Amino acid sequence: MFNEGEIKRENVWVTSKLWNNAHKKEDVIPALKNTLNDLKLDYLDLYLMHWPVAFRPGLEGFPEKDEDFLSLDEVPIIETWNAMIEAKKQGLVKHIGVSNFSSKKLADLLEKTNDAPEMNQVELHPYLQQKDLIDYCKKNNIHLTAYSPLGSGDRSDEMKAENEPSLLENETIKAIAEKHEASAGQILIKWAEQRGTAVIPKSTNEGRIEENIKSAAIKLNENDLNEIKKLDKHFRYVTGEFFVTEGNSYSNIYDE
Ligand SMILES: NC(=O)c1ccc[n+]([C@@H]2O[C@H](COP(=O)([O-])OP(=O)(O)OC[C@H]3O[C@@H](n4cnc5c(N)ncnc54)[C@H](OP(=O)(O)O)[C@@H]3O)[C@@H](O)[C@H]2O)c1
Repeated sequence: MFNEGEIKRENVWVTSKLWNNAHKKEDVIPALKNTLNDLKLDYLDLYLMHWPVAFRPGLEGFPEKDEDFLSLDEVPIIETWNAMIEAKKQGLVKHIGVSNFSSKKLADLLEKTNDAPEMNQVELHPYLQQKDLIDYCKKNNIHLTAYSPLGSGDRSDEMKAENEPSLLENETIKAIAEKHEASAGQILIKWAEQRGTAVIPKSTNEGRIEENIKSAAIKLNENDLNEIKKLDKHFRYVTGEFFVTEGNSYSNIYDE
């Protein structure tokens, strides 16, 4: 694709993630190679360990019972991480990182490796501001990416809690949007950017993709930022409860 078109590979940033069914050391590079093959690429810019959760190798679909999981004693995160370091050495990826890691899990990993994650992709938005995690990552030179920055409204109903608060309909966000002649979505994206995080809003709509890119031109002032700070209520849209079975060890994946 890149050979034929005007856009050069080096001008595009491609991130992908290692799925939970390939955490064992012998499975990481084959899983990455499958992804490269699917994408018809020679390398990725960034490869992330998607969750600090391991499934039985090769498990297709979502786990349903305890036996579908391996514990982190059976497949320690450092085992998976060392295989990701090897992938970087082999030139299959330029950068490596993690996703959904608490500062506790990052600290455990940093104790065991000299090759720290360069990125942690986590849920971040005004209802889940995670200041302590941001401070920890900054101190340790780990970049953050904010996922579900708009409140992840297109998840299936079974993934949603009852009465989830809406970010896009929040009165404070809407008032700030009106003042800047912007949309609520643009304010949420700009807020993430002004905090120094990368931000990955998702849209399947051309107009909204364009609108989201244009949020770069907005500048939130001190007052706007103070108002948004007050919205924090440590609310997660992505609770991780879908990883919990009766007897497995994943009931507190965020360590809180
Ligand atoms: N690392 C992880 O474990 C993890 C977990 C969850 C999500 N993520 C990633 O995070 C990214 C985004 O998060 P997300 O998909 O959960 O949700 P999100 O970006 O917070 O929200 C997506 C929803 O917002 C709508 N939307 C987009 N722009 C809008 C705008 N300007 N105004 C109003 N509505 C707008 C979209 O609808 P339309 O399509 O109709 O515009 C869609 O329904 C994705 O790439 C996802 O893969 C990562």
